[in-house]
Amino acid sequence: MIPQSFIQDLLSRVDIVDVVDRHVKLKRAGANYVACCPFHGEKTPSFTVSPTKQFYHCFGCGAHGTAVGFLMEYSGLGFVDAVKDLAQSVGMKVPEVRSELAQRKAEAGDDLYGVLLRAAQYYRAQLKDAARAIDYLKRRGLSGEIAKRFGIGYAPDGWQNLAAAFPDYNAKALATAGLVKVNEDHRRYDVFRDRIMFPIVDVRGNVIGFGGRVLGEGEPKYLNSPETPIFEKGRELYGLYQARGAIRRAGRVVVVEGYMDVVALAQHEVEYAVATLGTATTPLHVQKLLRQADEVVFCFDGDDAGRRAAWRALENSLAQLVDGKQVRFLFLPQGEDPDTYVRKAGKEAFETLIAGAPPLSRFLLDELASRVDLSAAEGRAAFIHQARPLLKPMQSNALRVQIVREVAALSRLAPEEVERLCELAPMVTRTRTADPRSPRMPQAPLARQLLRLLMGNPKVASTLSSEQHALLSSDPELAPVAALVELLKNSGATSLGVVFEASRDSNYADIYEAVAGETLLAAGSEETVQADLDGVFAQLELRRVQSEYTRLCASGGHSESEQLRFQELKRRLAELKGVGTVNVRSQI
Ligand code: CTP
Ligand code: MN
Repeated sequence: MIPQSFIQDLLSRVDIVDVVDRHVKLKRAGANYVACCPFHGEKTPSFTVSPTKQFYHCFGCGAHGTAVGFLMEYSGLGFVDAVKDLAQSVGMKVPEVRSELAQRKAEAGDDLYGVLLRAAQYYRAQLKDAARAIDYLKRRGLSGEIAKRFGIGYAPDGWQNLAAAFPDYNAKALATAGLVKVNEDHRRYDVFRDRIMFPIVDVRGNVIGFGGRVLGEGEPKYLNSPETPIFEKGRELYGLYQARGAIRRAGRVVVVEGYMDVVALAQHEVEYAVATLGTATTPLHVQKLLRQADEVVFCFDGDDAGRRAAWRALENSLAQLVDGKQVRFLFLPQGEDPDTYVRKAGKEAFETLIAGAPPLSRFLLDELASRVDLSAAEGRAAFIHQARPLLKPMQSNALRVQIVREVAALSRLAPEEVERLCELAPMVTRTRTADPRSPRMPQAPLARQLLRLLMGNPKVASTLSSEQHALLSSDPELAPVAALVELLKNSGATSLGVVFEASRDSNYADIYEAVAGETLLAAGSEETVQADLDGVFAQLELRRVQSEYTRLCASGGHSESEQLRFQELKRRLAELKGVGTVNVRSQI
């Protein structure tokens, strides 16, 4: 856990304009900066960065967040890594409370990065003098440029070549990294010998492992690094580091099976391809990819093994699907893989295949239908039975509704019956992970206005009077506002960006996130904020006084204290009606 106070400190030191500008060239536009949005394709800039709010927002696709969020989205980094990167850029060190094990892992990790980088450099240098290896790559249609881009190298034949590359061939990290093993005589030897070396690189450009291919025939065809503290196969994708820019430009990523497929596609200018590392596609893979592109196309061989692998990829994608994102499945002609296909048919033909690839829903329904006899009641029942485990993990969104309809039609049931038989959670309108306990966005316009005003101008939180505090706690609908005021006062946040990060752990984080996006729309001049705030509070008070007045009228209040209260309310009502509404501007 990184302490909240550190994140706030960090955000007050970095400037989101610098951070974004490092990756996307920004242009000044009034008080803000704009650019064409890196998260969706567009020709006119609607991606806006506010230096005062320390926040970005795209009016085209709705993407928004702080400098931390930007790095997460743009580079595909996790929260902790994004914070670390930012901290490093301003010379701050992230304080971490770590378990002893985590500490050891981190130390081993630092070591491993260095060892793997050195090995990669060594293999690359060896390739230059290895005519056989160069010849092999050439025969497979690869240029020197592509070999360089992917850092491809060569591990020469021989048992202890790495001894020349490392000052201490017996260092523990060499074994942990999977570069050397020990034989029966307790002597170390190189794992990779006479192989083409593909370095596996994480999204930050660190080498975390290798895949080594024999030149020509031989077993095993590929030898891969073992999993280590810094290399988890279910998390990493080969080629993602090199493909990131192209993925964003294309709005699409193609997932293939092999190292050679990625490299050959890049050679033919299909630069948005990545590969799983000899393992099945995991939900984490899919999540990582959908973060960077709206469309993921899985590409498999057309044989039975390919179809089985595709089905596993489908199962692992279901829970990750949100509306607006799509997953499709491309099956290549029998006997082809992306490498052979693109070399034979070229980029255009490959992209035509992609364009015609069936979407996940089609693959799912066709595959299920092919397993049963839909003309018999038993077959239709079996169909539902098989659909159930697939529909259940899906989020309750528009796509699920569509698939349920098709399942219903094929099984001659009503959609509601399918939902009941499959025990699906009811449809909700939110597209994010549905958590039944998470609070709903307040519908009342006043509550939302308050949230926008406070998030956009955190400093005013400390100016609220005790009456205003009392108003906030008198109405359950205003609970998110009351919580936000507390949060702002405790954190001393001064910009929207800081508020946003500080509210990540709050019960109302989802609400705040939605409102944060809206606040950049506000013209929000500093001078009017206080007046606007007072205006909204006046309206809240008006509402409260009005309802009390009505209640008192209805009860016919005759006691002396009731009479007094009556007069008081009447006076307050008149006052509020005079002032209350004039200050509420429609600028928000
Ligand atoms: N693989 C592996 N070990 C093997 C064979 C395959 O780890 N013995 C993994 C590798 O990641 C490889 C992927 O599975 O890239 C796909 O394997 P395959 O289709 O057999 O290889 P190709 O990618 O077609 O390799 P090439 O074109 O070089 O023959
Ligand atoms: Mn191949």
